[in-house]
Amino acid sequence: MSDFLTDVATLRARAREHIDQGPITAADGADRNRVVEVLNEALATEIVCVLRHRRHFYTATGITVGPVAAEFLQHANEELAHADRIAMRIVQLQGSPNFDPASLTDRSHSEYNASHDLVEMIQEDLVAERVAIASYSDVIRWLGDEDETTRRLLEDILAMEEEYADHLLNLLTDLHTPSLSRMRGEADPCSASR
Ligand SMILES: [Fe+2]
Ligand SMILES: [Fe+2]
Repeated sequence: MSDFLTDVATLRARAREHIDQGPITAADGADRNRVVEVLNEALATEIVCVLRHRRHFYTATGITVGPVAAEFLQHANEELAHADRIAMRIVQLQGSPNFDPASLTDRSHSEYNASHDLVEMIQEDLVAERVAIASYSDVIRWLGDEDETTRRLLEDILAMEEEYADHLLNLLTDLHTPSLSRMRGEADPCSASR
């Protein structure tokens, strides 16, 4: 099993690329385009999460796999619902939702994972959740009162990502993974330097 090596700091820096350009002002069409750009990154993030969870659901094996596979499948479906809601909002903002598979992984804040090890699958899913939580939290703060509909949408999705991250952490605890303490320390995206 490979170690817990996903570079969350790099992923989070990528997530912050657009919102670091300064505050938005709702009346400006150019700013609406920036919101669409950020939402398209969120859309790519959700689609990659759908693919990773679905792949994990079909490849998870072992004596402890039952409840874990159920979590993978349930969350794959929830991520798809998130992607749909984000795509809908992009269209409402007169933008174009980007479903191009060629650039999907470049636009996504989270990563695909092709592990065959159950614990590593859960760990990588938890990393992805924490990256999504960190980047959506940043976007919500960035939006402030400027686009309340988009902000409420992301707050709603964020709450679900946090709930799932908690489930994954419980699963890891149940599996007595030795990497757990490391995940709570070094690899915490919320403590990554900005
Ligand atoms: Fe999601
Ligand atoms: Fe998620």
